[in-house]
Amino acid sequence: MALARKDLLGIKDLTPEEINLILETAGPMKEILGRDIKKVPTLRGKLVVLLFYEPSTRTRTSFELAAKYMGADTVNFSPAASSVEKGESLKDTAQTLEAMGADAVVIRHRSGGAAAFLARTLKAAVLNGGDGMHEHPTQALLDMFTIKEKLGRLEGIKVAIVGDILHSRVARSNIYGLTKMGAEVRVVGPPTLLPPDIEKLGVKVFFRMEEGLEGVDVINMLRIQKERQERGLFPSLREYMNLYKLTAQRLKLARPGALVLHPGPINRGIEIDPEVADGMQSVIKEQVTNGVAVRMALLYLMIGGGK
Ligand code: CP
Repeated sequence: MALARKDLLGIKDLTPEEINLILETAGPMKEILGRDIKKVPTLRGKLVVLLFYEPSTRTRTSFELAAKYMGADTVNFSPAASSVEKGESLKDTAQTLEAMGADAVVIRHRSGGAAAFLARTLKAAVLNGGDGMHEHPTQALLDMFTIKEKLGRLEGIKVAIVGDILHSRVARSNIYGLTKMGAEVRVVGPPTLLPPDIEKLGVKVFFRMEEGLEGVDVINMLRIQKERQERGLFPSLREYMNLYKLTAQRLKLARPGALVLHPGPINRGIEIDPEVADGMQSVIKEQVTNGVAVRMALLYLMIGGGK
C-alpha cells in the first residue's frame, strides 16, 4: 500500500488510515535497526537533502541515518556555510538542490508554512522537520509509534501533554494525531502558555498538574522553549518548576506504569526531574530509536518501493 501524497507537511492533513500505514511500516523498519548490518538497498540511487535552518540533533541525525540505512545518498545543507549568507532565498536554494538531483528534501525552518511553500515549489518530496510553531509531524508519528508499541493501542488511552503548548509544534502535531486515532488528549499548563480556543482541537484543558495527570496512561512533557519565549508569560522559571515540573511525586498521580515521553532536548531539572527522565517509566531513549524507524518508513513510502 502506498502513501498517496507527494509531501508530508503536517498531521492535520493525514487520515487515520495514512497514520496507521506509516506506523505499521515503521515496525519492520525497527527490525532492521536491530540487525548487526543495518543496511537495505531500498533507496539506492536516491538523494535525500537535509535543509535545516534551525538547530537539530534528533530530527536531522535520524533522517540522515534513515536514508543511509536504506542506501540513499544524503546532503547535509548548512545555511551558515552556504550562499544563504549572501542572501540566497529559500526558493532558490531548494531549486538549486533539486537541480542537483534531490528526490526528497527534509526542511526545518523558523517560519510556519516554510515546508508548504517548498512543497509548492519543488517536484521532490518535501518532509516537514518542524516549521515555526506550526507542526512537527515526524515527532508526533514517532511519539504515536512509541505509545502504540508499549500500550498496544492508541484508541481510548488518556494522554496529558504538559507545558508550553502555545509555542509547541510538537504539541500541535500530537494533538491532531492522537485525537484522530481516538485517544483522549489533555493539555496542561499555565493559561499564558495555552493558545486561546485550544478546546476547539478536541482537547481537555487543565491549569493544574494535579488534576491534569490524574489517571492518564501517557505524560508527554514539553521543553520550555527559551528561544521562543516572549517576556513575562510566567512570573519566573522557579515558579514554573514549582507548578509544572514532572517529579516522581507527581508521576504517581498517573495510572501505575504510565509512560513518560519528552521530545527532547530536555531542560533537566526544569520541566522534568532527572530521576523521572531516566526512570523506569521513561521511554525517552526509545523515542529516539523509534524516530529512525518512523523516518525510514516515511522515506520508503514516499520515495522508495512503497511509492
Ligand atoms: N525533538 C526534536 O525535534 O529534537 P531536535 O530539535 O534535536 O531535532
